[in-house]
Amino acid sequence: MEAQLLRHAMLWAREAGTLMKKMLDDELHIEQKKNDSDLVTQADRRCEELLRNRLAQVYPGHWILGEEMDGGIDSYTAFKQRGGGYGWIIDPIDGTTNYIHRIPHFAVSIGIVKDGQPVAGVVYNPLTDELFHAVKGGGAYLNDARIQVSQKERRLSEAVLATGFYAGDWHEESEALPQIKRFVGSCRNLRMNGAASLDLCWVACGRLTGFWHRGLHPWDAAAGSLIVTEAGGRVTDRFGAAFHLAMDSLVATNGWTHDEITSIFLMDVEESYVVWRDKEEKAFKS
Ligand code: IPD
Ligand code: CA
Ligand code: CA
Repeated sequence: MEAQLLRHAMLWAREAGTLMKKMLDDELHIEQKKNDSDLVTQADRRCEELLRNRLAQVYPGHWILGEEMDGGIDSYTAFKQRGGGYGWIIDPIDGTTNYIHRIPHFAVSIGIVKDGQPVAGVVYNPLTDELFHAVKGGGAYLNDARIQVSQKERRLSEAVLATGFYAGDWHEESEALPQIKRFVGSCRNLRMNGAASLDLCWVACGRLTGFWHRGLHPWDAAAGSLIVTEAGGRVTDRFGAAFHLAMDSLVATNGWTHDEITSIFLMDVEESYVVWRDKEEKAFKS
């Protein structure tokens, strides 16, 4: 069954990818969602519509969670409310800001879950014609070639990492900034590429050693997280607990560097605890 679902997902991802590529020639109508850095265009909507139509025709009994039509409500709650059976989690254009600015790095991401667990995933970048895909238990692929996470970087000091800001965290007191600061000088270097699904696939094929992000939605990670684990990598939340799609933090690595990376986040928590404890003590004494 899953192999058949994957074949359809690959076909439709190519179709949506071709459409978004073609629409780059059109004038984009840019609308703001929650703020100035949370945007949507008619291309995002058209691609989601295309995918929803194909799905409704072929798998009318499966549920769908798509960013542009379901993104208005809390995505974690929406995901949990979908219940059991097969479901399709869609990000029609992951990397909309790149798309709008004609930065050639964006993708369509389709994750298929069964009873809440990812069973297949496809991420397609139409500009490079790279199609990443995986079925649970069947390994991960880039087009026809099997992929594997990098075996070369075994320590944080050798790691090339990526991260990103979520739209609501793009401000001066951002949570991401102190975390980024901790990694500066500790890893080989850091990238912010602007499409989380592709970052995950780049960990899977060994271009990146690791990736972390706060505030991702299920549609950013549904396909890519499976592709990483099927490529031999590790995916957890920032404290090392097994990842699931309703979690708001994600760390994906080649495995070798995982514990060193999650220990940086634990350091963060210990530090905020010390700040909190000192404040409480001072308040108690006064
Ligand atoms: C965004 C991208 C970006 C990540 C943001 C996401 P969108 O998705 O994946 O890399 O940093 O948090 O929201 O809005 O372009 O689909
Ligand atoms: Ca996205
Ligand atoms: Ca999107």
